[in-house]
Amino acid sequence: MTYPTKTFNLPVLEGLSEKQIKVHLGLYEGYVKHVNLIMEKIQALKAADAEGNAYLINELRRRFGFEFDGMRMHEYYFEQLEGAAQAPDAGSSLAQAAEAKYGSAENFIAHIKEVAGSRGIGWVIVYADPTAKTLHTVFVNDHELGQLAGLPIVLALDLWEHAFMVDYVPAEKKNYVEAFLANLNWPVVEKRFAAAMSAA
Ligand SMILES: [Fe+2]
Repeated sequence: MTYPTKTFNLPVLEGLSEKQIKVHLGLYEGYVKHVNLIMEKIQALKAADAEGNAYLINELRRRFGFEFDGMRMHEYYFEQLEGAAQAPDAGSSLAQAAEAKYGSAENFIAHIKEVAGSRGIGWVIVYADPTAKTLHTVFVNDHELGQLAGLPIVLALDLWEHAFMVDYVPAEKKNYVEAFLANLNWPVVEKRFAAAMSAA
């Protein structure tokens, strides 16, 4: 099987230029291409000489998480910007869980911004934890390292520099985070959280 490159129904975004999004989508396409390429290469190397190519195959397997998570994380990222920006619903199960953990919906947003201020490149990821009926907001440096095992992702904020450097210099990262949050289609995030909770 091969993974398809998804297309996203993105509106004109406030504070994120068409060029920025185009560059970023190009990067996403690269991840999809390499996920498929790694699977294809492993098959071919095994078929040609499994023993002789063992070292190469092992190294390709090590790279799989980087490419796969790069693909999937960008799908989470762009899907939550599809349609149109919509404000959070104060009555959603996500809002309730956020209130229980952070005190209020405003504190939840403030917490996301605080975590986004972590030095270095990476992602802010909000996970649902259905068994504990809560959520976690985590800074994940490399998308293949430091993810919380098995927890569904409800929000993915890309803080690799390629995500904003067409429009912002590194010192303006805060402005990018504001723009991202302003463009977020919150019902997408709320539906992810509700689905994760009901699947538990
Ligand atoms: Fe990215």
